[in-house]
Amino acid sequence: MTVTQEQREQVVASALREISHIATLPQVTLKIIELVEDPSSTAQDLHEVISNDPALCSRILKVVNSSFYGLPGQIASINRAIVMLGLNAVKNIAIAASLAKLFRGGELTPVFGAKDLWDHSNAVAIGCKLISDRLSMGLGDEAYLAGLIHDIGIMIEMQYDRTNLIDAIGKCGASPEGEPTVDLCTTEEEVFGANHMDFGRGLCEKWKFPAPFAAAAGFHHNPTAAPSECMKIVYVVHAADVLAASLEGGFKLDQPGQKMCKEVRDELKISDEMFDDLLKALQESIDESSHDM
Ligand SMILES: [Fe+2]
Ligand SMILES: [Fe+2]
Repeated sequence: MTVTQEQREQVVASALREISHIATLPQVTLKIIELVEDPSSTAQDLHEVISNDPALCSRILKVVNSSFYGLPGQIASINRAIVMLGLNAVKNIAIAASLAKLFRGGELTPVFGAKDLWDHSNAVAIGCKLISDRLSMGLGDEAYLAGLIHDIGIMIEMQYDRTNLIDAIGKCGASPEGEPTVDLCTTEEEVFGANHMDFGRGLCEKWKFPAPFAAAAGFHHNPTAAPSECMKIVYVVHAADVLAASLEGGFKLDQPGQKMCKEVRDELKISDEMFDDLLKALQESIDESSHDM
């Protein structure tokens, strides 16, 4: 069954309307995105907004002091954390914190739930950072967050219509860790009339997330179709998604055979040897990370 672009857009719009009471971005995150996108903002403006949110303050301090950033010594002041991390990184932490709240939804089937998807998203986020660092692409935080967001469309489906999502998962013909016979995007289109890339991109656009995040959500299984200005980050997310699915017990329903798109493999120059290397590094980072960034 093929769905037209117009049908997809209608389905996405009605899903987003329906879940708007659940899927709201906290005011503070919106304000932070707005401030960081405005070139006239200063670290002081950001500090004023953040200091009203104690949970976010403690998260920022936790991040700046984590081994992820590898800074020497403990940092206890938010002002100093903002200066050390940069406005953009602080924006990304705020987005990541809001996303963590979205990934609540309990178990869908005895073997799959929101937590599994959150673990997968974290694995892809770490994979993105590994690839970007390994290739000196300088994407860092942005790649990490794009990885965290890429499958957000599945969470929208979960909150919009659980029964349909359970149905779509069932039609894949495997447990989420098993090898699917049919790709999840195909079964989602059958059941919902749109796939998780459509839902994810719709949400990112509605929330006015920076364009690379909408592109990562919207094109990670079809990377060559991404808008050219976001191509690099979408390629990295696609590659990291294949890596994460190749982990033992990794989420692979939307990637039968875990095949990396040839254009991505060529562009990022990921040889078989490098793939194995990255996979090992990813497993090690996951084992070290506390999964709650
Ligand atoms: Fe996906
Ligand atoms: Fe994924």
